[in-house]
Amino acid sequence: MTIAESAALLPEHVVVAYHERTKHHYSRYAASLGYLDWANQPNPFRRYEEAPLVHLPFPDAGRTLPYWQLHASDDIEPASLSVDSISLFFRFALSLTAWKQFQGSTWPLRVNPSSGNLHPTEGYALLPALDGIHDRPGVYHYAPKEHGLELRANLDPSVWAALTAGFPEGSFLVGLSSILWREAWKYGERAFRYCQQDVGHALGTMRFAAAALGWKLQLLDRVGDADVSQLFGLDREVDYADAEREHPELVAVVVREKSASHRAFRLPQELVSPVANSRWFGTANVLSPDHGVDWPVIDQVAVATTNPRIAFDEEFSRFPSEEELFGVLVRSGVFTAEKVILGRRSAVRMDASTSIPAATFFQMLARLVPTRDGRSMPWDALPWCPRLQLGLFVHRVRGLPPGLYALARDPEKVGKLRQAMRPEFVWLRPSSCPQGLPLYLLKEGDCRTLAASVSCGQDIAGDGAFSLAMLADYMDSLVAYGASFYRNLFWEAGLVGQVLYLESEEAGIRATGMGCYFDDPVHEVFGISSRDWQSFYHFTVGGAVEDSRLTTLPPYDLGQTR
Ligand SMILES: Cc1cc2nc3c(=O)[nH]c(=O)nc-3n(C[C@H](O)[C@H](O)[C@H](O)COP(=O)(O)O)c2cc1C
Repeated sequence: MTIAESAALLPEHVVVAYHERTKHHYSRYAASLGYLDWANQPNPFRRYEEAPLVHLPFPDAGRTLPYWQLHASDDIEPASLSVDSISLFFRFALSLTAWKQFQGSTWPLRVNPSSGNLHPTEGYALLPALDGIHDRPGVYHYAPKEHGLELRANLDPSVWAALTAGFPEGSFLVGLSSILWREAWKYGERAFRYCQQDVGHALGTMRFAAAALGWKLQLLDRVGDADVSQLFGLDREVDYADAEREHPELVAVVVREKSASHRAFRLPQELVSPVANSRWFGTANVLSPDHGVDWPVIDQVAVATTNPRIAFDEEFSRFPSEEELFGVLVRSGVFTAEKVILGRRSAVRMDASTSIPAATFFQMLARLVPTRDGRSMPWDALPWCPRLQLGLFVHRVRGLPPGLYALARDPEKVGKLRQAMRPEFVWLRPSSCPQGLPLYLLKEGDCRTLAASVSCGQDIAGDGAFSLAMLADYMDSLVAYGASFYRNLFWEAGLVGQVLYLESEEAGIRATGMGCYFDDPVHEVFGISSRDWQSFYHFTVGGAVEDSRLTTLPPYDLGQTR
């Protein structure tokens, strides 16, 4: 099917066809090259050549702010907007956190995780004039290797003033795009899913970075992909020439007011268009000399999921309060925010022995449920109610029998889940579980082998304390919000994953996102036979085994370049 042919179909049909054909099955994986085309390995760093680069000053290490406080950030005094606070924001959101070395190869790792460490996600900001950055408002691309901001455009002060007039004083905009090719190079057709999950993770890292500064961050709805492209210059053909294009993803507002009224922010389209008339700088670098095989279905699903300015108006009053959800208010913890955020790492292997107390498990899960006041972090960044419920494989949680469990992140979805899942499931509430945490035992039993098997045979899914599938009421979501919401489902999945990564660090264990799983066999475990519910991401959490063969080097060598 060509793009022109697919354009004749309803976008929802293109999405469903894409989702079906990119499922992994026991008998065959989704189409990919099947080998790594090293000659065309994409450069992990996009740069805009000839765009002025501002090196951000490295924040001093040793910030004492505790991690738990990020979740009670009303008590954090909002930092003023400056080159230092912007630097800390990007350091905690999208910077490098280490270089790894093994047998002569060296590769960087970042605050945000990424499928295959391919990092398709690019970060942007629209900032006011700030000492140490620029004497006028500008559009910037974040360069993680340099920890710098590339000036893409000078904004006329009147354009900036109009753009931000609807936000509290001192707000700024951030955005994300995806270079779909980076993931397609390795993963072929399934790559669009991974890019979108990565966007969700990066949205999460930005939300947590904002929290560390006492700031709020909200994804702006009613802003379409065309607006995102205009804001960040992604539609400027002339700047890309032979370089890989960036797919517009999202724009979010960062607000310095504690009491910022939730979900009330708007960025009208007519304010966005003048940005295009600014003076732009830089041309994008070419990431791969050649692309070899093309994956037209990725272009088709990208077009079909174009966001036409989707709007949300959702009600959170049915959700539990913080106290109901956690049992007690969590106002202490172990590590600093800096250690958790910069120290986050994926487990490459789990030890098949570490267990966690039920209380830790409950707390991790409670962090995945929004609260009634709509203010819990990071869920206050999303303007829609949770669409992903969890099917859990519990292996080593002290005080809970091993088995299959379900967490209804939206308590209202329990009935629908029960209908969709196996009739023999028991739906018992664990006795020690906080009253407001919608967690249910479905079936007792050892599911370690099963979990690994449906996760593409990855042992990490059975060797941890627990693993899980994120089950979306997919058809209902597409009907409610249209085809573009397919991407939002993956963003929500990435955000759930980011919380699990950070909670695991705080609990002294580790997590790993798993984009590789056998879709329909996962559904079969839970008895899901219709397409209404589909798994959008897998995760595993447990005691990690470090790979001692790897050498870890610091992320930035005091200005030395590699
Ligand atoms: C969307 C996504 C899918 C991933 N899928 C897998 C997977 O199936 N198996 C795995 O071992 N790791 C997986 N990972 C972990 C990445 O390999 C890891 O994030 C990357 O190597 C960077 O390492 P770091 O997370 O320690 O920074 C995934 C990560 C993301 C974000």
